[in-house]
Formats: sequence, structure tokens, C-alpha cells
Amino acid sequence: MSRFAEPQDDAFRALNDSLSFDWRLGPYDVQQSRAHATMLAAQGIITDAERDELRRALDQVQRELGEGEFPFAEGDEDIHMAIERRVTELAGRVGGKLHTARSRNDQVATDVAMFVRAHAHRAHEQTERVASTLVAVAERHLDWPMPGYTHLQRAQPVYLSHHLLAYAWMLIRDRERFAGVAAATAALPLGAGALAGVNFDTDRQLVARELGFPTVAENSIDAVSNRDFVLDYLAAAATCATHLSRLGGEIVLWSSEEFGFCEVADAWASGSSIMPQKKNPDAAELLRAKSPRIASHLVALHGVLHGLPLTYNKDMQEDKEHLFDAADTLELCLDAADGMLGSIRFSRENLAAAAADEMLAATDVADLLVRRGMPFREAHGVVAGLVRSAIEQDKALSDLTREELAEHSPLLDDEFYGLLRDGAWLEAKVSQGGTGLSRVREQLERARAALR
Ligand code: ARG
Repeated sequence: MSRFAEPQDDAFRALNDSLSFDWRLGPYDVQQSRAHATMLAAQGIITDAERDELRRALDQVQRELGEGEFPFAEGDEDIHMAIERRVTELAGRVGGKLHTARSRNDQVATDVAMFVRAHAHRAHEQTERVASTLVAVAERHLDWPMPGYTHLQRAQPVYLSHHLLAYAWMLIRDRERFAGVAAATAALPLGAGALAGVNFDTDRQLVARELGFPTVAENSIDAVSNRDFVLDYLAAAATCATHLSRLGGEIVLWSSEEFGFCEVADAWASGSSIMPQKKNPDAAELLRAKSPRIASHLVALHGVLHGLPLTYNKDMQEDKEHLFDAADTLELCLDAADGMLGSIRFSRENLAAAAADEMLAATDVADLLVRRGMPFREAHGVVAGLVRSAIEQDKALSDLTREELAEHSPLLDDEFYGLLRDGAWLEAKVSQGGTGLSRVREQLERARAALR
């Protein structure tokens, strides 16, 4: 019997059915159902023989799902109903007992939590791998000078290793964020029923142990309404994707003829359909472009949940496509970033030529005056004046004469030329976390320790 006298409208079914995407929860649903049946039997709610029949059917469903041979049927609305229907086909009437003391509301929340946990672990591993690759590439380019930029204007020289390690730290923070996401899935929703709990003396701790949840959700209303762990995953994924986007963006710039700092391996580039000379850094461009897509999934789910009354509303079915696409996109990007970074080649010459721009020593000249007693703010003004005269005369700083220097400050002597000549501006950055080589070595060691 059904409560409904009329069949569902085709357009309603197209809108309402979620099987086309939630089939991905199948393996978690089977695992969950197995734990649930175990608990029902342990509590005497079904017999051991019934549990065994359910398990056999669930094993068969798992095989069919794994081999892509699961027979979906016309009326399957979502993966949960499809699996229950199939279990009943395989096991007979006892299949109808699987849903005792369970609702699709606590069931779907549990499946989604399991999915999030698995993919938080995956992202944890992948971010660790990319960070390790960045550390290895940094190590190979330890003392390669390059210009550091602000406003995309040459600012101060740094070592390439230092610049690459900046990204390694971002990925290390991402890894920690994904550990936090996994922790946000700690409380088992199952056992909450539709919203109020169930009419049976269930053992939720047993189910939690079986499924690897450290605890049980304290409040059945919260349990079926909570999607915080999806928001947390999407937030961590969006931040991580933004990091990859900035990295991709820099590699695109650096690969240009104008910069000429690096070249991605052929395996990570494409040609042009019309211009035979082209080698385009498409992978880096796509890393740059994918992040807003993931951020939009986060914003969309906040939109779905905001103002939504407790408890379950069909709106919540909209969590899945955002989550799934974010996970697919992020995992693909992390794999690509790792491969592209592992095979990229840098041009020591071009990096060094750009870093040899004397203007990059302006702060160091100011600091020379500071060491001679001038307040930094005054020194900043003196050097700004020097830079201006050099630019106006189309000269390098070191082409300014002693007389010109004296006009700007009596404190400027031959050491000014020495400072520009020996190019030791990098090694002058001795502060902790700075680009001086011994500090970068220290930093590398700390990054390695964080990844161990
Ligand atoms: N397909 C649904 C979802 O993904 C399953 C939960 C259905 N629950 C309900 N009360 N209709 O959210």
C-alpha cells in the first residue's frame, strides 16, 4: 500500500530523485547497514538468523556495487532505497527488517559523515605529499636568488627555496585543517531515527565502534540536521584550492617569456592548434581557475542551510553534489599540483638576472644609514631621493658619483658601492624566518619535521 493515490509526476521525480549522484554513498550505506543489523541482533530486536540473512544480502550488494553490476530499478529514488529494495529481493521478507529503528534521515547523515571522513583523510595525505614535494624542490634550489615581489613589482631579493617553502607552509596548514575536518565527523548520527530517537532499546555505542566513530551524537534533533562537517570540509577544500590557485598563477607568470623563470615539463603542458611554437602551462592555469568553483560550493551550502528550520528538510539533499564535486576537483588538483611541481625546471640564469636589479638593494642602503645613526624614516627619504636621481638620469644606483651621494647625505661613502657590488643583500636577511641561507636551512628542517 502507499499513502498516495496518484503516481509521481515525471518532472517531480527528476527534481526529487538523488540516485544520479548519491549512488556514490553506496559502499558507506552497505557498511552502515551491516553495523546496524549487527546491533539489531545484539539487542534482540532481530534474530541472529535474520541478521545473517541480511548480511549475506548486503555482501552480495557490496559485490554488485563494486563490480558495477548493481541492478538499479525504475522506482529507486535514492541509493538508500535502492539498497533496501535489492536486499529485500535477495533475502526476501526479512529485508524489510533492515530499516527497523532507523530513518533515512539518520542514515543519510551517517553516510555523508563517513564520506567526509574518508575524503578528509585523503586530502590530508595529498596535502602532505604536495608539501613534501615542495620541500624537496626547495632543497634542490636552496641558494638560487630571485626577486621577491610586492604589487608584482620587484621588491627584495629572496632565495627560490624560500619562496617555494612559503607554499609548503600553506599546504602544511591545509593538512592540519583536514585533520580538523575528520575530527568534526566524530559523533555518530545513526540511532537518532527520523528526529526524535527510536522506539527500541538500541546500542548506539556498538554501531559507533563498528563504524569507527569515536562518539555518539548527543541530540537526535541535532544529529539529523547537522551538516557542519560538510561545511568544514568545503571550507578547508576552498582554502586549499586557493593556495593551489596562487601557486598556479605564479607558475603561469613565471612560465611566460617575459619572466622566463621556469618551464613546466611537457607532460603538464599543451600546444596550440594554430601556433606551432606555443607551449602553454595549462595545468597551472587550471589550478588557478578551479578554486572559485570549490569556494562556490561552500557558499552554496551555507545558502542551503541558512534559515533552514530543524530538522531534516529536502533542501539538505543539496549537500551532496557540492560535496562530491568539491572532493573530486580538489583531489584532482592536488594530484596535478604534485606531478607538475615534481617535474618543473627553473632557470637559474634568468632568476639571477632579475634578482641582480640594484634597486632591490634600496632597503639595504637605507639600513646602512640606519647603522650610522640615522632614524629609519629619514633614511627611507634619502634613499628615495637617490633612486629618483638615478631614474631621472637613466642610471644604475652604482653609477651615481660620490658628489651626488654627498648631496643626499654625508653619511654615504664607499661602503655604498661595496654594498651594491657584493650582492650580499640576501645574506643580510638574518632574522628568524627570513631569507638568509642559514635561516632557510633552519626552515627546511622545521618543515621536514612538521611532515615527519
Ligand atoms: N535522498 C535524501 C537525501 O539525500 C535521503 C533522505 C530522505 N529523507 C527524507 N525524509 N525524505 O537527503
